[in-house]
This record gives sequence, structure tokens and C-alpha cells, in this order.
Amino acid sequence: MSVYTASTTAPVNIATLKYWGKRDKSLNLPTNSSISVTLSQDDLRTLTSVATSSSFTEDQLWLNGTPESLTSERTVACLKDLRALRTAVEARDTSLPKFSEWKLHIVSENNFPTAAGLASSAAGFSALVKAIAKLYELPESMSEISKIARKGSGSACRSLFGGYVAWEMGSEVDGSDSKAVEVAPLEHWPSMKAAILVVSADKKDTPSTSGMQTTVATSDLFQHRIKNVVPTRFIEMKETILNKDFAKFAELTMKDSNSFHAVCLDSYPPIKYLNDTSMKVIKLIHTLNAAAGETIAAYTFDAGPNAVIYYLEENEAVVLGLLHELFGGVAGWEKVDKEQLTLLKAFPKEHLDYDITKGVAK
Ligand code: ADP
Ligand code: DP6
Ligand code: CO
Repeated sequence: MSVYTASTTAPVNIATLKYWGKRDKSLNLPTNSSISVTLSQDDLRTLTSVATSSSFTEDQLWLNGTPESLTSERTVACLKDLRALRTAVEARDTSLPKFSEWKLHIVSENNFPTAAGLASSAAGFSALVKAIAKLYELPESMSEISKIARKGSGSACRSLFGGYVAWEMGSEVDGSDSKAVEVAPLEHWPSMKAAILVVSADKKDTPSTSGMQTTVATSDLFQHRIKNVVPTRFIEMKETILNKDFAKFAELTMKDSNSFHAVCLDSYPPIKYLNDTSMKVIKLIHTLNAAAGETIAAYTFDAGPNAVIYYLEENEAVVLGLLHELFGGVAGWEKVDKEQLTLLKAFPKEHLDYDITKGVAK
């Protein structure tokens, strides 16, 4: 019995304007548009292989070596849409094997912490949908495919593009206009770099999906955020990217991270993703910018304590130099220079008790 396979990788993307809130849970439609930067997949990535055969008896997923249920509503929705598109391909060319009727075996591996606020669901569902689209030889555009990835995990739709990406919330009830679009390719502003500080690789207590549902249901501040803050910020942030205005981009990024974590705390019961080390990183970046006399670095935190620092290559020595001075010499640190972005990876524990504010003062 023939087995047909395809493999792909997908990168992580880290939002600079956060998606937090669903207006439709089953279609995974957001309450606001969002913007992100896709990181280099040489560093943080998901690798997914899919196989199909008429002899397979059930859909199966192995995530990081462990069998996972493939019955979640979100994954089922992705598989259903992909099979429908494959059915159309098979109808156009009846000589093709009937993959649409066969079960799938999916093996996926993240080379970074899963469910720790480093966008594993984004890379994970992006890779899953991309791998199956490749196996099925689907002709659809990436924006079309992004609508399927969106149903797996909202942030996943943005990982289908490199560079600077927007997820337009759309207004249609069926979600047909809620998709990822490129704001600018990476080459537009290639000097943008990201450093990732892994404060904790632990699985978060509150998954993003349930966290944002608590926020939508209970937070008054969230209503203010989606009505009065994000719509203008979405336009402004796209402008700062197109104009390559780092100081403004950085300010909006930091403010949006703070706004997102504020609505988390305003939820009831409150959701706390940042820890003391995260707060020290925030203080450090503000101290650094004040000392530099201009905004040269921006922090942002997803639904977890781990920091992503955006900065321009020309300031790398200052930004990474400071981080190295504070955290450097600690086992487990490695600086990786890759074609797209620079990652500074640290691993937990070694520096958890390190008082970085002391470093700034000295
Ligand atoms: P994160 O901050 O890492 O995105 P989330 O709470 O949004 O955390 O999502 C974590 C969940 O995403 C995991 O528990 C798992 O269900 C799913 N996920 C992560 N990686 C993959 C993958 N490679 N393939 C399929 N699903 C994945
Ligand atoms: C804080 O995309 O993980 O990272 O759609 O429920 O899977 P689901 O949520 P998810 O939420 C991401 C939240 C965020 C911000 C962002 O990436 O925009
Ligand atoms: Co996620």
C-alpha cells in the first residue's frame, strides 16, 4: 500500500500589536486586528511531516514524540477545510489518488518550549496546515491557506508569511475576510533584529485560548482596548513599519505589550503572565533607552514571562552588550546569528535569581 508524505517547517511570529480576544470561537475570529514580525526559522521552528495512505485507519498526531488527540475542534476544522480543497483538486483531475478520503498521520516537533508563551501554537498550526496543503498540492494562495491556519490557532495565520505581517480581523460573519496579509517583506527593513530571553520554559498555567475568553467575558479595560486603542494603533504601527521609524515602532510595541498584560490583570479572576524577571527586563529596556537618549530597543511579551527584544542591527553591540553584561558568562547562553534575525537564547534557572537592575546601576 503506497504511503504519500510531505514535510515542512514553519517559524514563530511574535506580535507587536497583540491579538487577544475572539468574537467567534468556532471560526476563531478575533476582536481586533494584529501585527507581528516573523522570526528566522533557523532558530525557533516547528518541523512537521504528514503521511497519508488508504491503509491508515485513523487520523493521528504525535507532538514532540507524544501521541496527541486529533479530536480537538480546532484541528478537526483545519483537516475538514483542507480535505474540502483537496476534493476540488481531485474533481478537476480524476486520475489523482483520493487523499481527501484517507486518514492522516502527522508528526510534529518544536525545537523550543511548547505552550510557554513563545508562539508554539503559531508555528505549530502554520506548519500543520502548510504540510498538508503541500501533500494535497493545493493551488490556493497563502492568504487563503492562512484562513485555515487561523482556525487552528489565530496567531498561526501570520506565520505563513515572512517579514512584517498583519492579521486583518475582517467583518464578514463567515470569516472569509479574516486573514493574514504581508505589511512589508523582510528585505524592506532587514536591520530589524529580535533577541529572545527565555525566562521560563515551563508550560503556562492559562493557555491563550482560555485566557482570552476570560478577558472578553470579564474585563472592562478590554472593551476600551479594542474600541479606543487598537484600531488607531493598527494604522500607526503599519505606518512606522513602512516608514522604518524604529523609535515610534518600539514605543507602540512596548505600549501594546503593556496594554495586553493590563487587560489580562483586569480579567476576573486575573491572569498573570509576567513574573519578576519579566518586570526587570522591562525596567532594563527603559533604562537603556533613557541612557541612550533615544528609543533603541523594545520589549514585548506574549502569554508567558519570556521577553522578545526588538532592536536595529546598528544598535546590536549596545543592546546585546548590555544583556550580555547582565546575563553573560552564564552557562546556557548562546548568541546565534542567522540570516534573518539574531536570537539571544537563554535558558531558565541559570539567571532567574540574577538581579538585572543591579547590573544597570553599576
Ligand atoms: P503558545 O504561547 O506556545 O502559543 P498556546 O497556549 O497558544 O501557547 O498553545 C499551545 C498549544 O498549541 C499546545 O498545547 C498544543 O495544543 C498546540 N501546539 C503547539 N505546538 C504544536 C505543533 N507543533 N503542532 C500542533 N499543535 C501544536
Ligand atoms: C498573546 O493564537 O495562541 O500571543 O487562537 O486561541 O490559539 P488561539 O490563541 P493564540 O493567541 C496568541 C496571543 C498572543 C498575541 C498574538 O500572538 O497576537
Ligand atoms: Co499560542
